[in-house]
Amino acid sequence: MDYFLIEGGQRLGGRIPVGGAKNSGLKLMVASLLSEGPLILSNVPDIADIRTMRSLLSQLGLDVDEVDGPRKLSLGGAIASVEAPYDIVSRMRASILVLGPLLARVGEARVSLPGGCAIGTRPVDLHLKGLEALGAEILLEGGYINAKAPDGLKGGRIVLPFPSVGATENILMAATLARGTTEIVNAAREPEILDLANCLNAMGARITGAHSGTILVEGVERLHGAHYSVMPDRIECGTYACAVGMTGGDVLLEGGRMADQEAVIHALREAGVTVTEEVDGLRIQSDGYLKGIDLTTEPYPGFPTDMQAQFMAMLSVADGASTITETIFENRFMHVPELNRMGAKISTQGRSAVIRGVKRLSAARVMATDLRASFSLILAGLVAEGETMLSRVYHLDRGYEHVEKKLSACGAKIRRVQQSK
Ligand code: UD1
Repeated sequence: MDYFLIEGGQRLGGRIPVGGAKNSGLKLMVASLLSEGPLILSNVPDIADIRTMRSLLSQLGLDVDEVDGPRKLSLGGAIASVEAPYDIVSRMRASILVLGPLLARVGEARVSLPGGCAIGTRPVDLHLKGLEALGAEILLEGGYINAKAPDGLKGGRIVLPFPSVGATENILMAATLARGTTEIVNAAREPEILDLANCLNAMGARITGAHSGTILVEGVERLHGAHYSVMPDRIECGTYACAVGMTGGDVLLEGGRMADQEAVIHALREAGVTVTEEVDGLRIQSDGYLKGIDLTTEPYPGFPTDMQAQFMAMLSVADGASTITETIFENRFMHVPELNRMGAKISTQGRSAVIRGVKRLSAARVMATDLRASFSLILAGLVAEGETMLSRVYHLDRGYEHVEKKLSACGAKIRRVQQSK
């Protein structure tokens, strides 16, 4: 198992390319199940979750091929199996999204229930109710979702009690091939939903309103292949912006877009970080002096839960106190004890955390617990006195590409060590 060694205290300067979005790329790959294809995706991030999804889609029978390297994939072909097994679904929750497309294309799916995960219980009831409203028959048995639509799916009106990203995506994909019109009310409005709808429309779907909270899908007989480029990763972009905010410096985040992340940019500015939109990306400038702020995670366009841990690390060295309330996941403060071991002063009560800014953090041996939490520990390491050792970086490799290369290119002292060596 690899670990990182990080020596704190370097200002960051230069350019960091923002990769394709994990949270969009994975879903666009799944969308390829809806047609013979091929769907040619470019700007695919080179991360472990994408490799896991490639293996799942291959197991389902699709041909998944690289076109000039891992960043461009060709996906398509006939479905040979309708089962997403436990070992893959428990490793990567996005696997649950094959349910809707399999039902829509071949009228059958067997997908393992994902179970809980480090950040909370994460049920899938809204996915299932939505698909039932489109005519699917669903039976939960032996830890699996067995779903059937022998006569195909038919359009319906679905009102989501919460704008779940995953449920919106599952229903949206299924509805593209359903007979008649589907309306998804209180749908998620995340930019990744719009990216998925745009890709599906490029494949011949008829979707409108994907950014509005009410999505209309007019079912079509079949979808076809298309070329599509994955949107830039707004979370990766925000994460590096926090890094520069903390260390001080001047970095251009190439490909970063203001429109996808207004809540994050507002919070960065409030904390004292300068963010400017330039032709080729977002420029982040900071003198390393930060002010405490209050944040609450919310569905888009609110402040994203996927940026909570990184802001917590950043605010731990701000002047004054901050509060963060996590409303999306009930157990997403796993990074707090590790940050406190590095000298942060954070206390939690239920879903809220109070962060009392300290002047400096000190290096320690720390352990990654989930994808975003791992990065909060890298951020702390970048400003801590001494050498931080972060183990279990496989959590990080799931969703951030070439972290050590991107940070080192801007002057950070971070290196990966392979434990076996
Ligand atoms: C969530 C985030 C998404 C993030 C991803 C990975 C939100 C709204 N969604 O997406 O931005 O990229 O995690 O960190 O911030 N829920 C149910 N029943 C369901 C589905 C969800 O009760 O069937 C609840 C969950 O328990 C949770 C909330 O809804 O409290 C958010 O779920 P959802 O948006 O579906 O989660 P993800 O799709 O994983």
